[in-house]
Amino acid sequence: MKRELHEDIVDYLNYQKQLGVKYYSKSVLRAPQKDSSVLAQTTNSCGLRFSELENETHNCTKCGLSRGRTTVVFGTGNRKAQLMLIGEGPGYDEDIQGKPFVGKAGMLLTKILKAINLERDEVYIGNIVKCRPPNNRTPLPDEIAACKPYIEEQISLIQPKIICALGYVAANTLLGIESSISKLRGKFYDYKGIKLMPTFHPAYLLRNPEKKKEVWEDVQKIQRELNA
Ligand code: URA
Repeated sequence: MKRELHEDIVDYLNYQKQLGVKYYSKSVLRAPQKDSSVLAQTTNSCGLRFSELENETHNCTKCGLSRGRTTVVFGTGNRKAQLMLIGEGPGYDEDIQGKPFVGKAGMLLTKILKAINLERDEVYIGNIVKCRPPNNRTPLPDEIAACKPYIEEQISLIQPKIICALGYVAANTLLGIESSISKLRGKFYDYKGIKLMPTFHPAYLLRNPEKKKEVWEDVQKIQRELNA
């Protein structure tokens, strides 16, 4: 999943556009100097913002979930991933370890990825809310609203080719709709120009293993799209 130089530059320009920058200086697009300083600047600019954003979440107290957390679970993986997987929010194991999908549901997610020849470090994995809801309850609308700008900015910095929304909370939050995951799954939707595939959450699959067939169909569609 290596990306070309021009893809990094397109990412950078897209990000600047989203920040409201309307014009660029010719020097930005000049051939790189011997020391590749232009590329270093562009790559660092996105990387720097990513680190700033991560720091912001670690200090976040925008909603009540911050009071119960052990660790903020920002997200892990490849910041230049073509595939981003987005879950609901951290559970017990994630809250302790500070990493998304490291419990039982995470093990299943890792297997699902392997089934389409992807390792966890090739993709980026994040959540709608960054702090664990008490007793793993569904995050409340005000908690989702407080946290949503973080995942939106993560997506806009990573600019994946495809987003896989795991479960109805991720799918409904990103698509701005209210629908059941059974109705939504299996089709690509548009999220700000990025293809988004909703599918069942791995924790749901642990309780309803007969639904694995549908997830297999969904991830195969993702694989085909990634290779297209
Ligand atoms: N469930 C989620 O939605 N996210 C995690 O990180 C773990 C379990």
